[in-house]
Amino acid sequence: MAAPAVAAGLSSAENMPEAAAEPTESPAEAQKRPQFGTRFLTDPRQVFQHNAWDNVEWSAEQEEAAQKKVQENSQPLPAEKQEEFDNRANEYWNDFYTIHENRFFKDRHWLFTEFPELAPQHKPPRDAEENLLNGEDVPSTHTDTEFPGTSASYRILEVGCGVGNTVFPILKTNNDPGLFVYCCDFSSTAVDLVKSSPDYDPSRCHAFVHDMSDTSAGYPIPDHSLDVIVLIFVLSALHPQKMQNSIDRLARLLKPGGVLLLRDYGRYDMAQLRFKKGRCLSENFYVRGDGTRVYFFTQDELHDLFFNAGLEKVQNMVDRRLQVNRGKQLTMYRVWVQCKYRKVLAST
Ligand SMILES: C[S@@+](CC[C@H](N)C(=O)[O-])C[C@H]1O[C@@H](n2cnc3c(N)ncnc32)[C@H](O)[C@@H]1O
Repeated sequence: MAAPAVAAGLSSAENMPEAAAEPTESPAEAQKRPQFGTRFLTDPRQVFQHNAWDNVEWSAEQEEAAQKKVQENSQPLPAEKQEEFDNRANEYWNDFYTIHENRFFKDRHWLFTEFPELAPQHKPPRDAEENLLNGEDVPSTHTDTEFPGTSASYRILEVGCGVGNTVFPILKTNNDPGLFVYCCDFSSTAVDLVKSSPDYDPSRCHAFVHDMSDTSAGYPIPDHSLDVIVLIFVLSALHPQKMQNSIDRLARLLKPGGVLLLRDYGRYDMAQLRFKKGRCLSENFYVRGDGTRVYFFTQDELHDLFFNAGLEKVQNMVDRRLQVNRGKQLTMYRVWVQCKYRKVLAST
């Protein structure tokens, strides 16, 4: 059943502008592209000379103005409305993908420079493999049971995969014969689009419908079997109260030494400051005009979620980018958080 129409507000295209932020490039070009954080604006007069500037410093006034804007629009919607958005969350995303199909998000090729764990020839940490082989502190479920990708030597799961803008670049770029990629989304419309793609190869990939916030629902993969979990702009779509249990559940799927990679919205991103009154669900959590929801994280909040799940920090950085529309002479301040957390190795 389709999700009910919601009151007029910003459409997803207006309030999910990360979709327009990703450059389109081939996997080969993508492997050559520099990491984020390499182009700095030192002379403000040159702002319109490039499309984007990295690591932009925010002045105290700019931070204060952002805080004020968020404060002004922090009156939450009534509880019954909140509940409806939560109960029907997947229906709103189904409607989103029925409208946009695979035309909305662009392929996320920057993944390979930011997260080399997804690129070919990346081997799991040696001692993690040894711990697994020795079976120390690790149940051996995955050695006894058949599951998709049982014989793979390197397993990646993407949660909230949408129509495959991360998964397909991984499959195209990473030709390691031991690789197997799992991907899931709670939108059955999105998963159907992934499976109907000519690039979907069931011998290398398994797509399934799964709600990551439903911790009673099983994954088709045993615990301690994954090398990498990828979360790209998906954790922010969950109700904040459901985030910790969802991350705890995912952490169990990782092998010791396996990593969880995340990129998501940061506090005071342009998308947060653009929300109008009547869209706030709770502090820093909003509903878009199409019923899909979004939270804006601080680095500390993400650290606590991962640390509490038994993961240790490898990276937790904020990417403050100034994007420029040279044609319209507009500047847009983006804030994204990027994290890499590793499952602590079993003690030997
Ligand atoms: C902003 S989109 C990002 C899609 C994709 N990761 C990308 O970067 O192109 C968020 C995705 O998360 C999915 N999603 C939201 N909540 C989810 C949940 N509880 N479990 C699984 N998927 C979810 C949505 O259906 C949607 O496909």
